[in-house]
Amino acid sequence: GAVDLGPYRHYMQKEIFEQPRAIADTLEGVNAVTPELFGADAETVLRDTKRILFLACGTSYYAALTAKYWIEAMAGLPVDVEIASEYRYRASVPDPDTLVVTVSQSGETADTLSALRHARDDLGMTKTLTICNVATSAMVNESRLAYITRAGVEIGVASTKAFTTQLVALYLLALTFAKLRGRLSPAEEEAELKSLRHVPTALGAVLALEPQVIDWAERFATKQHALFLGRGLHYPIALEGALKLKEISYIHAEAYPAGELKHGPLALVDKEMPVVTVAPNDRLLEKLKSNMQEVRARGGELYVFADGDSRIENAEGMHVIRLPENYGKLSPVLHVVPLQLLAYHTALTRGTDVDKPRNLAKSVTVE
Ligand code: G6P
Repeated sequence: GAVDLGPYRHYMQKEIFEQPRAIADTLEGVNAVTPELFGADAETVLRDTKRILFLACGTSYYAALTAKYWIEAMAGLPVDVEIASEYRYRASVPDPDTLVVTVSQSGETADTLSALRHARDDLGMTKTLTICNVATSAMVNESRLAYITRAGVEIGVASTKAFTTQLVALYLLALTFAKLRGRLSPAEEEAELKSLRHVPTALGAVLALEPQVIDWAERFATKQHALFLGRGLHYPIALEGALKLKEISYIHAEAYPAGELKHGPLALVDKEMPVVTVAPNDRLLEKLKSNMQEVRARGGELYVFADGDSRIENAEGMHVIRLPENYGKLSPVLHVVPLQLLAYHTALTRGTDVDKPRNLAKSVTVE
């Protein structure tokens, strides 16, 4: 192909390892939290925003779902997130003061583009923003505001670096709304920008966990099913981890917010069911630990991604990989990376076509 694989076996692996660079590029020139990051006339649009509606598909939908947690908590603005193919065909209640935000790697996904046009042309919602990786795309062209992520060309069908750069752009959007609404002091702004700038370095350290993840992948390769659990900000990350695994390894994977375990999925748990748990050291960790006990009590095998400072230890039926730090609110950007690696190495062990999984396309431009 036009893009050299270098030392990597697949584009997906290369793109996973490009993430520190992609995020640094996406943050280039960001010296302050300001509406101008989203376009020259963004200030009036963003200042008047009372509500946000995200529209997206696939992995981009999970980025938007993460943004809901950030924006509601940091800026106090109500956020809805909707699958584009549902939104475009259902009778929804329009609101001209809602900012419609599409999230898309390609900017050409048919359902997302049609959902944007439906909101704007049929429902009169003219405040539009797109978070997109392709500056010349239809979505950028047709939206009033835009933030262009700088992931670079993404070739692997399963999205990786596009996702983490979307998260970074969405975090900037959350910060911008927080600032406009008087919830971000100058000192906090400095601290936030500093932790954002630390992400590429932190991500490099997470990528160094690859050998440990390969050990797990070899065990996953023989499984038929897997369950992914997360809570709060990391529920969308569990969803993304399950999507990656099913897309490229063809193992049936489902994600649940851990609190829902007892309302169904617990019935599936036995010793053949690996349960991946995204377990950063946040205020939900104690809750998550009791969910993990529920899994253990049924003989389920736990694979836990914890933080350096959390007290979760390896034990019978409980395998732990520790991320080097605790990343606070930015934790989803880091915690998704070992899940990408787990899917990649599981697929590699199973011998599937990692970059071109069966029946899937990189960009779905027809319905
Ligand atoms: C396809 C790709 C996914 C992607 C989704 C949305 O299903 O395989 O990786 O997340 O489309 O694409 P977009 O370009 O709109 O982000």
